[in-house]
Amino acid sequence: MSATGSDAIRRLTISDVAMMHAEGRRIAMLTAYDFPTAQIIDEAGVPLILVGDSLGQVALGYDSTVRVTMEEMLHHTRAVARGARRALVIGDLPFLSYSTSAAAIENAGRFLRDAGAGAVKVEGGVRTARVVEAMTSAGIPVMGHIGWTPQSEGSLGGKVKVQGRTRDQARSLLADAHAIAQAGAFAIVLELMPEQLAAAITARLPIPTIGIGAGTGCSGQVQVITDLLGMGDFIPRHARPYARLRGTIRDAAMAYAADVAAGTFPGPEQSSRMEDGVLDAVLGRSREDRAEAGMSSGPIPLDRDL
Ligand code: KIV
Repeated sequence: MSATGSDAIRRLTISDVAMMHAEGRRIAMLTAYDFPTAQIIDEAGVPLILVGDSLGQVALGYDSTVRVTMEEMLHHTRAVARGARRALVIGDLPFLSYSTSAAAIENAGRFLRDAGAGAVKVEGGVRTARVVEAMTSAGIPVMGHIGWTPQSEGSLGGKVKVQGRTRDQARSLLADAHAIAQAGAFAIVLELMPEQLAAAITARLPIPTIGIGAGTGCSGQVQVITDLLGMGDFIPRHARPYARLRGTIRDAAMAYAADVAAGTFPGPEQSSRMEDGVLDAVLGRSREDRAEAGMSSGPIPLDRDL
């Protein structure tokens, strides 16, 4: 940063999201759960970073997102907000943290004030609209999320599946989308629904839709970062891995362990030396003792030569 701060990076807001939508630019969102990943995604220019409660499954090893707590979400959101300088950081309100308007405002406030998020996301359509309205009226930027909503996996039948294939389900998802938009949300995630339904919802809403497993007809897309990077032991059908880091990390760990076992790590480049004479003095030995013990100065450079 310059002394004048003229090259300071401006944090994106929901107005920027509205402008991207108005200009017909497709909006990319990725999840992140830690500082370095957020930093890299931000450097890549991705405008929206979601600290999703997928955290529970992909980073904390829980079997379900419903086990994720407020404290865990806040902890990881803080790390992401420190890493992302430009992206709008959106924190996922975890299961049961927004069952009343008062609880929603209180908890969303913690994401914004304490953790550094710029917005929050909540799951649910018509049933959540009142809470969304209460939050947006209080000045909290809110993203909705309908279709397959992992926090309701119990009531949606447990097994992850495409929502809205029947006439009744499709009607009710359309009503959900309208309710969340009317409640003042700035965008809405459409997860796992037929692409024609997602495109129809997108065409009817004044706010951008961000799809995941909902086709190309949405205003933008979101992916879980570990799916994108090929880190998990399973890649969902709706995801496209752009890297295969699971194998890369495993190969690196195996090569490292083999080098440690062989004594070839660390090498001279990763090591430092001191003046032999200093150690001789410390150990009370003479230069001759050292020579007899066969210890050479070796090719490792001294710190002073680096
Ligand atoms: O928690 C999450 O990562 C999400 C996205 C899949 C939208 O909600």
